[in-house]
Amino acid sequence: EKAGFDHFMLKEIHEQPKAYRDTMGTRLDASGEKVVLNEIGMTPEQIRAIRQVHIVACGTAYHAGLVGKSVIEKLARIPVETDVASEYRYRAPIITPETLVIVVSQSGETADTLAALREAKRCGARVLAITNVVGSSVAREADDVIVTWAGPEIAVASTKAYTSQLIAFYLLGLYLAQTLGTVDEAYIAEVVAGLQQLPEKVESILAQADTIRAIAEQVSTHDNLFFIGRGLDYAVALEGSLKLKEISYIHSEAYAAGELKHGTLALIEEGIPVIALATQDELFEKTVSNIKEVKARGAHVFGIHAEGDAELAKVVDRTFAIPATLPLLTPALSVVPLQLLAYYASLARGNDVDKPRNLAKSVTVE
Ligand code: M6R
Repeated sequence: EKAGFDHFMLKEIHEQPKAYRDTMGTRLDASGEKVVLNEIGMTPEQIRAIRQVHIVACGTAYHAGLVGKSVIEKLARIPVETDVASEYRYRAPIITPETLVIVVSQSGETADTLAALREAKRCGARVLAITNVVGSSVAREADDVIVTWAGPEIAVASTKAYTSQLIAFYLLGLYLAQTLGTVDEAYIAEVVAGLQQLPEKVESILAQADTIRAIAEQVSTHDNLFFIGRGLDYAVALEGSLKLKEISYIHSEAYAAGELKHGTLALIEEGIPVIALATQDELFEKTVSNIKEVKARGAHVFGIHAEGDAELAKVVDRTFAIPATLPLLTPALSVVPLQLLAYYASLARGNDVDKPRNLAKSVTVE
């Protein structure tokens, strides 16, 4: 049932190209220029009435929600807040009928996420669920559901569900933008074309798993490391760090690259590995200066950059290139080497990759 792979996690990492294709599926129209989301029951008037979006989720799904915030704000120009579900309802969030609450849950059964959904409905908000399980509690109770067609995810560490959630956010962002007229049609078509190219780009990253494995084996001998990035790279850094902690038990922290010097830089010492994501053109120079700050303190830096950029190699110890794509779409590629990094580090440490200690696949307690 692992289809020849040693672990479900590795199998699921490799299923991502298919999960992307299946999640996009018929939601891209035949012209390949726009998004069709028949499952969304909101009328154009209801969409125009949305004043704010709250994205609520736990763990990896929360990290997908951080990317979702950037995507919706950029494409639909609606203010978005992303909250951890176990915090959301205790902060007396301002939820009105003009709030669209998006809950994200692979299983659709996470207790805190479900409770957030119920609270949102009680306050009169419309709730849209992004979930991988048709017929789950979250799917049944939400007003609208975008199903991620990732297929069953068995490994406790979420991989293909996360990336399928990203695809769902891209589709939703485009759909809202089409309705609201917030970005021009040419850009929508460009993003759609970019989405369609993602599966084969993921395949080309998977073909380089051995390169990541070598880095992972080096990383696995350390007890502490950092992930840094800015903007969308920071959101992906958080996910990479969680994945590594969850299955390799190596302590890591993800930091917004510009925030290091406000305290955390004190922890950088000789030889500490730092995984630096620098895939965003606009933020590249700024990220490079933050990389220089850790290099100057002796960090050993692994840089992740977009193909075609030769600059990062000059400042870091080792690089890994992801295929070039639109800046907005890079999370769907840059997370893949980080999933592999966590997998191979866990393997090198002899851990039970698919069933990490202390954790459950579905968290039905608050
Ligand atoms: O089923 P859900 O998406 O609601 O689960 C949320 C988290 O428990 C889950 O993403 C968790 O963080 C993963 N084990 C991370 O890999």
